[in-house]
Amino acid sequence: MRWPTFKAAGAACLLSQTAQALTVTATDTTSIKSAASTVAFGLLKYYTGNNTGDVAGNLPSPYFWWEAGAMFGTMVDYWFITGDTTYNDITSQALLHQVGDNNDYMPANQTRTEGNDDQGFWAMAAMSAAENNFPNPPADQPQWLALAQAVFNEYTTRWDTTSCGGGLRWQIFQFNNGFNYKNSIANGCFFNIAARLARYTGNQTYAEWAERVWDWEVGVGLITPEYKILDGASSTGSPGNCTKPDTIQWSYNAGIFLHGAAVMYNYTADGGSTTAGGATSAAWQTRMEGVLAESKSHFFGNDSILVETACETVGLCDNDQQSFKGYMLRWLSGTAQMAPDKFAEITPLLNANAEAAALACTGTSSGFKGTDGTACGFKWTTGGFDGQVGVGEQMSALSALMYSLVRPTTQAAVTSTSGGTSAGNPNAGQKNTTAVALTPITTGDRVAAGFLTSAIVMSVIGGSVLVMI
Ligand SMILES: *[C@@H]1O[C@H](CO)[C@@H](O)[C@H](O)[C@H]1NC(C)=O
Ligand SMILES: *[C@@H]1O[C@H](CO)[C@@H](O)[C@H](O)[C@H]1NC(C)=O
Ligand SMILES: *[C@@H]1O[C@H](CO)[C@@H](O)[C@H](O)[C@H]1NC(C)=O
Ligand SMILES: *[C@@H]1O[C@H](CO)[C@@H](O)[C@H](O)[C@H]1NC(C)=O
Ligand SMILES: *[C@@H]1O[C@H](CO)[C@@H](O)[C@H](O)[C@H]1NC(C)=O
Ligand SMILES: *[C@@H]1O[C@H](CO)[C@@H](O)[C@H](O)[C@H]1NC(C)=O
Ligand SMILES: *[C@@H]1O[C@H](CO)[C@@H](O)[C@H](O)[C@H]1NC(C)=O
Repeated sequence: MRWPTFKAAGAACLLSQTAQALTVTATDTTSIKSAASTVAFGLLKYYTGNNTGDVAGNLPSPYFWWEAGAMFGTMVDYWFITGDTTYNDITSQALLHQVGDNNDYMPANQTRTEGNDDQGFWAMAAMSAAENNFPNPPADQPQWLALAQAVFNEYTTRWDTTSCGGGLRWQIFQFNNGFNYKNSIANGCFFNIAARLARYTGNQTYAEWAERVWDWEVGVGLITPEYKILDGASSTGSPGNCTKPDTIQWSYNAGIFLHGAAVMYNYTADGGSTTAGGATSAAWQTRMEGVLAESKSHFFGNDSILVETACETVGLCDNDQQSFKGYMLRWLSGTAQMAPDKFAEITPLLNANAEAAALACTGTSSGFKGTDGTACGFKWTTGGFDGQVGVGEQMSALSALMYSLVRPTTQAAVTSTSGGTSAGNPNAGQKNTTAVALTPITTGDRVAAGFLTSAIVMSVIGGSVLVMI
């Protein structure tokens, strides 16, 4: 991901509202599936990677590469939850085309600007494919589980103890803006993947790393005693060494740690051992419940509707941030599956957001190529379409609809001993990713990639967002 750029809310966008096309009742599975199908159709209309001459797995500008990984992760779940196979072929094609020469989601076209979080969203898509038994690639192609393991292995080599007592840096390469920032999304990807690999494979090494990442986040105060997940902290400068976290809270940071903690709870409660001195299942349960409670109070309003509080109310969410709510709901439903006694608490949230998101999917916009009257806006709190359209808005609404279909009877993520069929390779990945760094990007590339050379610092003080350039 990049330093935030701000897109004006609904700017130059003619508000157009047609009669509500998606009628949804949370308890009516058929209505949700039908609405999800319509919204998925609109989402994939943004995708051009399967057009002749285009590159499979890439979204067109202004969307960055990581968001395509997030989108295909969503589509893996979409197929699993709804049974609709329409997009399986383009999903497989994208997930395999972007693996890169070393089967680790570091394709040469992306590597120079790639961050640990960017790589992580593709790896989590592969992990979901393994956990859902998404059709396995042909034997001569890389396999889902091995792809996630490759990224995990590379993360371990990037664990940086030269500052902050550890942690992953946001960026992989020194020449990229954000190399000196250690943040919760990069470490959250590591934590989430490690926890899921531990549960899938039963290999304790993964659990130890999950534990290490969590402890580090707590140690530097990125996870607070109230279980707020703060954005990140600078390793250099003054104050450096991660002593002064940027306190902004994003819903996807809360979600990624919530789900990872739930997976660790499930793993430790159901037979996986803890490391000597490590957290017990009771401790993981406390952590999971702590993040859940804090998330509910911070991101879900009194009417249970999810709000990206840091930017949504002031209309300053950028393209990346407009997709975050969808991941929160993905990981919220996954949490209920890992701790089924949480369904009673989580299902009402999922249901409320499915119905609210459907009401926001009633737009028509020149920027939207799906069916008129079904473009999804960004805010779910208004009871209608707010005029903002894009991949993030559409994908988040799809997530709100489809994850509400996750019930106690829905198949949960499988493991290698409960039906998982994806082939792994514990030694996948490169020993030295610095070797593939190539050269720093040129000025031309920076402009092309929309890279910001002047860092934008964003902080929230008393509920208002200050933007300083
Ligand atoms: C690419 O996939 C989308 C979504 O399924 C579809 O609408 C479009 O027709 C496909 N394009 C090509 C060239 O196959
Ligand atoms: C890299 O970019 C080239 C030129 O656009 C394209 O042909 C190729 O398919 C891309 N490779 C990947 C893995 O995206
Ligand atoms: C930097 O922070 C780590 C973790 O909090 C701490 O262990 C270490 O002593 C600090 N280093 C310096 C030079 O302050
Ligand atoms: C929720 O209700 C509490 C108590 O009435 C109030 O203090 C708080 O501001 C409300 N929060 C939101 C997001 O509306
Ligand atoms: C772990 O997850 C599985 C799959 O949903 C579930 O059946 C099991 O009850 C969970 N374990 C605990 C301790 O909640
Ligand atoms: C467990 O995972 C570690 C880390 O990837 C690996 O080195 C080790 O070989 C694995 N053990 C087994 C039994 O697969
Ligand atoms: C990794 O590769 C880079 C570039 O080839 C080299 O400078 C560096 O020493 C290597 N690091 C290790 C640990 O081998």
